[in-house]
Amino acid sequence: MTKDLLKGLNEHLKLEFRASHEYLAMSIWLSEHDLPGFATWMRKQSSDELLHAQRIIDHLVERDQKVALPAIAAPPMTWKSAEALCAHVLKNEQDVTASINELYAMAEKAKDRPGVVMLQWFVTEQMEEEAAARAVLGRIRLAGNTGVGLLMIDQELSGGAVPGMPAAPAGAA
Ligand SMILES: [Fe+2]
Ligand SMILES: [Fe+2]
Repeated sequence: MTKDLLKGLNEHLKLEFRASHEYLAMSIWLSEHDLPGFATWMRKQSSDELLHAQRIIDHLVERDQKVALPAIAAPPMTWKSAEALCAHVLKNEQDVTASINELYAMAEKAKDRPGVVMLQWFVTEQMEEEAAARAVLGRIRLAGNTGVGLLMIDQELSGGAVPGMPAAPAGAA
């Protein structure tokens, strides 16, 4: 693996861990604001981001490359609104996509096939994650940022009605 790609992959870990940390904080704020569907969705996103970091770590370890775990700053614990929160999620995902695309181009240029294959998974994943964030944000803007509209979307999120959303837990009404 080239030095640049190794450095880039290690730097990318920070984006995944930071997203996990931020999404966990968002999930706490959403629970505090009586939006359990949104909270469950963000908790799931937080776990997914940890899995993304682990996927890169496993790749580096398998290839006998040095992993450098990043320091992660404390995330914001309050949000102006569910809309502001979701807008931040979408922006975050777009930043991650940009980083993945850069890494993919580096791997391609270096003819690093295992790297390309590993990053290919992330290209597809990012497309799905952006689409899900965009779908939720769009529905908040349609239905309104407060009251009945927001409650309706919260119900959808706990029932898995929005593409890319988790299904309702077993036994849920
Ligand atoms: Fe991710
Ligand atoms: Fe993500």
